Amino acid sequence: MPSRAFYPDLAAASVFVTGGGSGIGAALTRAFAAQTARVAFVDIAEEESRALVDAVAAETGVAPLFIPCDIRDVPALQAAVRRAGEVHGDVGVLLNNAANDQRHRVEDVTRAYWDDRMAINQRPMMFAAQAVLPMMKRLGGGSIVNFGSISWKLGNGGMPAYTMAKAAVHGLTRGLARDFGPFGIRVNTLLPGWVMTERQKALWLTPEAEAEMLKGQCLKIRIEPDQVADLALFLASEASSACTAQEFTVDAGWS
Ligand SMILES: NC(=O)c1ccc[n+]([C@@H]2O[C@H](COP(=O)([O-])OP(=O)(O)OC[C@H]3O[C@@H](n4cnc5c(N)ncnc54)[C@H](O)[C@@H]3O)[C@@H](O)[C@H]2O)c1
Repeated sequence: MPSRAFYPDLAAASVFVTGGGSGIGAALTRAFAAQTARVAFVDIAEEESRALVDAVAAETGVAPLFIPCDIRDVPALQAAVRRAGEVHGDVGVLLNNAANDQRHRVEDVTRAYWDDRMAINQRPMMFAAQAVLPMMKRLGGGSIVNFGSISWKLGNGGMPAYTMAKAAVHGLTRGLARDFGPFGIRVNTLLPGWVMTERQKALWLTPEAEAEMLKGQCLKIRIEPDQVADLALFLASEASSACTAQEFTVDAGWS
């Protein structure tokens, strides 16, 4: 891994990650734990999440708090946020990371499917933010990072529910940033490019797709989850204390 910054204000910070058990989320859990932050995360992938807890405990000496939770269940999500607050102290960093980029043909989309995509990719961001608001008010500030995607900027097809939800993240970020700003709470959107998680490699990485990616990117590299986590650390930390209501991209120059 390239050199990683250490942010003293993140030491002992109470951090809540959605989808923190695998993919970019696992890199977030690891990266914040390595800063000695107190990390809690929700996920539906129980086996991978428990393995990650053990691995991080071995690496850092401190186990993150894994709370099994399907973020489509809003009361359960909000209860998980409150539990993280009880165990680790008021949550000061919220990383709204979980999503699902399942492909779908327009002809096959039902209302129930559409609503389910929003229930995973859009709705939880709002209700997790609502749950951390009283805690961040007590703390006198906080940082919320909503995960977007460059897919809608590139005009990608094959998943309109996903691209709509991810475009909407920008509106949510800017609206919440305005409402939360008076309390010292910052809200930003982090847009990953194509990041080489295990899921992406297993499902979508073909030689042709990689050639297209490398043609589009200015930098001829494969983006790794840690490179996204590096930006999340900066946005969570007071190092970005005047940054709010903005979009920050890690895409090697593709979009
Ligand atoms: N990997 C990429 O190339 C890429 C590109 C653009 C944007 N992003 C965004 O970055 C974020 C992370 O992406 P990723 O590639 O790591 O995704 P991923 O699918 O690899 O991981 C998502 C995590 O969320 C969990 N999750 C999914 N549905 C859940 C639910 N209903 N309840 C609780 N947990 C659930 C999964 O189990 C998994 O651990 C997402 O917001 C995604 O849209 C990723």
